[in-house]
Amino acid sequence: MKNPFLLAILIVTSHCLDFNESEFFKSKCGLADFTISYNPKMEEIGMTNLTTIKCSLIDIHGNEELKKLNIPNLNYASPSAENLEANKTGIEINIDSEKYGFCITSVEMYNFINIENVNLKKLGGGICEPGIQPSSGKLCNASHNVDEETEIQDGCTQMFGKVVINPKNVQNVQKLSSVEIIFGVLYIENTNLTTIDFLQNLKYISALGYGYPAITVQNNPYLSNFSFPNLKRIKNNGESSVVFTNNTQEFILDPKYCSFFEDQLGQGGWEKPKFDGNSCYTLIQEANTRPPYKFAKNLDLIIVVLFMSIAQIL
Ligand SMILES: *[C@@H]1O[C@H](CO)[C@@H](O)[C@H](O)[C@H]1NC(C)=O
Ligand SMILES: *[C@@H]1O[C@H](CO)[C@@H](O)[C@H](O)[C@H]1NC(C)=O
Ligand SMILES: *[C@@H]1O[C@H](CO)[C@@H](O)[C@H](O)[C@H]1NC(C)=O
Ligand SMILES: *[C@@H]1O[C@H](CO)[C@@H](O)[C@H](O)[C@H]1NC(C)=O
Ligand SMILES: *[C@@H]1O[C@H](CO)[C@@H](O)[C@H](O)[C@H]1NC(C)=O
Ligand SMILES: *[C@@H]1O[C@H](CO)[C@@H](O)[C@H](O)[C@H]1NC(C)=O
Repeated sequence: MKNPFLLAILIVTSHCLDFNESEFFKSKCGLADFTISYNPKMEEIGMTNLTTIKCSLIDIHGNEELKKLNIPNLNYASPSAENLEANKTGIEINIDSEKYGFCITSVEMYNFINIENVNLKKLGGGICEPGIQPSSGKLCNASHNVDEETEIQDGCTQMFGKVVINPKNVQNVQKLSSVEIIFGVLYIENTNLTTIDFLQNLKYISALGYGYPAITVQNNPYLSNFSFPNLKRIKNNGESSVVFTNNTQEFILDPKYCSFFEDQLGQGGWEKPKFDGNSCYTLIQEANTRPPYKFAKNLDLIIVVLFMSIAQIL
């Protein structure tokens, strides 16, 4: 164990850790949680061999000097036995530190986000720089600033920083099809794109520690559609999560685009999407006040409605 203080001051408030000798760093929950809290001098947790936790709640808070976790191999969590019996399958993770500069590495974040049924309810700090090359795949640096287009390379599976797409690099966007996770934000502006269909493999965006929405799409005058078939989760802290501004009216007239982000990605604690400043709720309300033919999903229906109206007049 790297941190000599750890054994002495680790307060694991539970019956939860049930270390057995053969698998010392696999821990099981009884009734309680996996909690590490109020260890005033702990700078890192440093459980480098911990791979598995069987607890429904992982809670690390109140450790004033905690700078990093250093639990790089924790990649599996399952509910405590009692919760499993009650069909409560969710795993809640709350990790925070009062220490300025506290960060979670890209490897740890990747592991957390991949835990089945995880709710990353509270995560403080940011993602530690620089990103760490994953054991499989390729991490590429994106931009530092949103006014600087990202140099798009081949074969990146993870992007670290602000993925900025603008007129200077828009011709290369198809290369982003290999990207599975963005540790940072997606920022698309001033392009001639008609659809965003080049992030077919994107599963996660973690904008943790960035003062920007996870997705910003603005001033793309021909843009009327998007497709993120594999997107599972967006994590950001504080700022609104998804902002679409000044693209085609399609996104405003049909609330399904906004609802995609709200319904499919909605989790406790993340800010609502904004489409030209409107919430999905407002867009739905507005759609409901428009005449019914607006709901026609295609031209055929509009024609049928028109015919019926004409028939009535005649
Ligand atoms: C972690 O596991 C390795 C290999 O199994 C072992 O050599 C090492 O002592 C373990 N570290 C701790 C802190 O237990
Ligand atoms: C849990 O789910 C299973 C299968 O869906 C069901 O048979 C069982 O009654 C449920 N248990 C509880 C406590 O709800
Ligand atoms: C990314 O940039 C950082 C510096 O900000 C550098 O240390 C790191 O090596 C770069 N990584 C890659 C994969 O280029
Ligand atoms: C984008 O649209 C503008 C205005 O219509 C046009 O001048 C420009 O050539 C287009 N660029 C591309 C890459 O199609
Ligand atoms: C939007 O994109 C999706 C996925 O590429 C496609 O299935 C759908 O037909 C498109 N919608 C419109 C209105 O073009
Ligand atoms: C919206 O887009 C138009 C042209 O595409 C541009 O002239 C205008 O400045 C944009 N508005 C904002 C608020 O960015």
